[in-house]
Amino acid sequence: MLNTFQQARHAVLPKATPQEASRQEFAKSLKQYIQHGLLPGLQPVYRGRAGKRFEREAGRAPADRHDIRKSMVPDIYFQHYAAVNRISQELLWDSVIDSIDSDPQALRAEADAASAANGGKLVVPEQFEVPRYVSALDIHCMPGGYAGEPGEQDVTLGALYDRGVFLYSMGYTGPNNDDMGRSVCNYIKRRLDGFSPKRILDMGCTVGHSTLPYKELFPEAEVWGVDVAAPQIRYAHARAGAMGLDVNFAQMNAERTEFEDGYFDLVVSHILLHETSGKAMPRIFEECHRVLAPGGYMIHADLPPFDLMDPFTQFILDNETYYNNEPFWGAMRELDQVKLAEAAGFPADTICFDTAPMAVMEFAAAQAAGYSQDAADSVADREFTAGEFAPGGGWEVLIARKAG
Ligand SMILES: C[S@@+](CC[C@H](N)C(=O)[O-])C[C@H]1O[C@@H](n2cnc3c(N)ncnc32)[C@H](O)[C@@H]1O
Repeated sequence: MLNTFQQARHAVLPKATPQEASRQEFAKSLKQYIQHGLLPGLQPVYRGRAGKRFEREAGRAPADRHDIRKSMVPDIYFQHYAAVNRISQELLWDSVIDSIDSDPQALRAEADAASAANGGKLVVPEQFEVPRYVSALDIHCMPGGYAGEPGEQDVTLGALYDRGVFLYSMGYTGPNNDDMGRSVCNYIKRRLDGFSPKRILDMGCTVGHSTLPYKELFPEAEVWGVDVAAPQIRYAHARAGAMGLDVNFAQMNAERTEFEDGYFDLVVSHILLHETSGKAMPRIFEECHRVLAPGGYMIHADLPPFDLMDPFTQFILDNETYYNNEPFWGAMRELDQVKLAEAAGFPADTICFDTAPMAVMEFAAAQAAGYSQDAADSVADREFTAGEFAPGGGWEVLIARKAG
């Protein structure tokens, strides 16, 4: 069933002509069709013929996700699925680029005005080295990647992400694309009753989708979003201003930020880790430990480790590694994150994986409780309730606490 969820408007969101809007809606609907119409066919194809063919040829049953991939790649159904999926991904970015390219000056002017309305700091150093795992490729096929600089003081790549990721998630992360941050906020409210951080850091914040709910939940807190990508940071600062929130944004590397030791009570990230690297991840955990005050919490929200799911599901998720320019997607899920957190200095008895109920935008059946444009427009009034977009869905959170 296709949903008609729409993104909430704000001043710096690219404005689409009716033709552009309809193309974007097509890209979103195509993605939904793939999720609901094509993806469910993969398992019967695997059980009915691909797995059996593998067994005949190899003399054994497929043992893991790699074997399943070997069995599925030659199959015409899988090839069709993977090709349409890739095309839909390219199409969705393409459909947004038109409404950005039509008037980049106007976008820039809106961004400058909105940024001026944000009382929080904007820090973009003149010299900055973007790590290769971000600069070397257009992650998830987004033209220009996060950190390209197609123009001076660019904000267009932030605008591209803001609109494109809403289409990518098919609206399941909410009208403000903020379900991840909102869900971790819910989690904090439920699980860490009474915890009231004064300084909060969101690592790998991109355009601040997940950062802003922390300012809403903890209005008195000093909230920082950091990212290695200047266009995302500039746009994030403007977007927060457009949404009436004073939040600080800085271009910084989460492997080594500029903050002093013990500055924050809470350090979070949302789908940052799988877009880094095997060398960066331990450094990020160490940096979390360094910038946290004694008793402070580190919470990373991402997709679940592979050992928590069956091999067929692993195979499906791993398609992102193979076909969507996400080189660390699969490898990250095989790392022992609990061990990494321990090695970074967090006491073992404070580290665990847990689930923060939220929208599931991948292939799981996201039976979202529908929301209307009215609800989208009054998003600021919404309660922090659990799983509001897709009851039953959940993001995996890795949580650890610095010794007090
Ligand atoms: C998938 S996006 C994160 C989305 C965002 N957290 C949200 O909830 O909407 C990954 C982001 O991490 C950033 N990133 C990757 N490595 C980083 C690092 N070492 N330090 C800071 N940001 C990083 C990328 O530039 C990108 O903007």
